[in-house]
Amino acid sequence: MSKAKVAVLGASGAVGREMINVLVERGMRTDEIVALGGKSAGKSIDAGDNRIEIFSAEKFDFSRVKYVLGAVSAELSRKYSPKILSGGAVYIDNSSAFRLDDGVPLVVPGINDDDALLHRGIIANPNCSTIIALTALAGINRISQINEVIAVTYQAVSGAGAEGMTELRAQTEALLRGEETVCRVFPHRIAENVIPWIGSKSEGGYTDEEMKMQNEGRKIFGRDNVTFNCTCVRVPVMRSHSIALSVFCDRSLNVREVKDAVRQTKRCLLFDDIERGEYPMPMLSSGRDEVFVGRIRNTPEGRGGIALFCCGDQLRRGAATNAVDIMELVEK
Ligand SMILES: NC(=O)c1ccc[n+]([C@@H]2O[C@H](COP(=O)([O-])OP(=O)(O)OC[C@H]3O[C@@H](n4cnc5c(N)ncnc54)[C@H](OP(=O)(O)O)[C@@H]3O)[C@@H](O)[C@H]2O)c1
Repeated sequence: MSKAKVAVLGASGAVGREMINVLVERGMRTDEIVALGGKSAGKSIDAGDNRIEIFSAEKFDFSRVKYVLGAVSAELSRKYSPKILSGGAVYIDNSSAFRLDDGVPLVVPGINDDDALLHRGIIANPNCSTIIALTALAGINRISQINEVIAVTYQAVSGAGAEGMTELRAQTEALLRGEETVCRVFPHRIAENVIPWIGSKSEGGYTDEEMKMQNEGRKIFGRDNVTFNCTCVRVPVMRSHSIALSVFCDRSLNVREVKDAVRQTKRCLLFDDIERGEYPMPMLSSGRDEVFVGRIRNTPEGRGGIALFCCGDQLRRGAATNAVDIMELVEK
């Protein structure tokens, strides 16, 4: 194997496959990418017009690469990180393992780019809903300090990995055939249903998935005096999370200045023309890197807040593309 530049740890998974797609789209040669995995070692995987072999992560010498993009569970991420760091690579991790650790930057490009440069070997990607929500709010954050965010997420099944997509497909086919459905990944049937519970029980009746937006959002904004009240809902959509957001800032905001701010935000696409039936939907943002933002309006009762709806492909913008953007920030 030639001296490669980037290893993708968990290359066969939902996020890992997208990491390889994004790297190839950004012009990286396939001989500069090493695909690593567990059970899938020895198989091959699409990389643009080519296929590349998946190698065993257990046996890999991490000193052969400059960056490792992590797309494995938090447990496996903790297991592999000492080997990655001792090999001298920069580890950009998608799991929740290190997100809140001191000395580990938690980065949403476009919000806290400079934090990436403070790394000591590990940089964490935030949770996918946090990335999508904060990217949608980046423009507002530039024109006024955000103090309060109310979020309701509509999360696609691929947020639970490749097996989440398999489960929705199998359950939908079983329902159409009039057969019993089997639940392995989600706690209830997800086909023709929505499930207002993602993750495990946390403080005050919230789930750990819901608390991530507050805990991570505060670290990314660098302030503890911002509150995020989040409700996470799983929906029978294959890919792309949607989020309804209401935000309250230091001053009242008007719709026109917020639209201008969104328009000027690099990773956002303003998609907001009610007369033409244009608003964000997961079918539009799937496979894309931009966060679609629309339905921008003032909150009622004259509080001067802003309500909006956004959609982002959580496998790309919420994971793979965010990681590659971070790598490019460090590489500059
Ligand atoms: N899905 C999302 O929307 C999303 C978004 C943001 C962040 N994340 C985070 O990203 C990470 C990956 O999620 P995912 O959805 O891509 O999961 P996934 O589809 O279940 O993929 C898991 C990956 O882990 C690999 N793996 C398992 N055991 C391994 C081992 N012993 N050594 C090396 N690799 C091993 C698997 O490879 P083998 O098949 O070869 O075993 C597979 O490639 C998780 O931490 C998740 O929380 C996911």
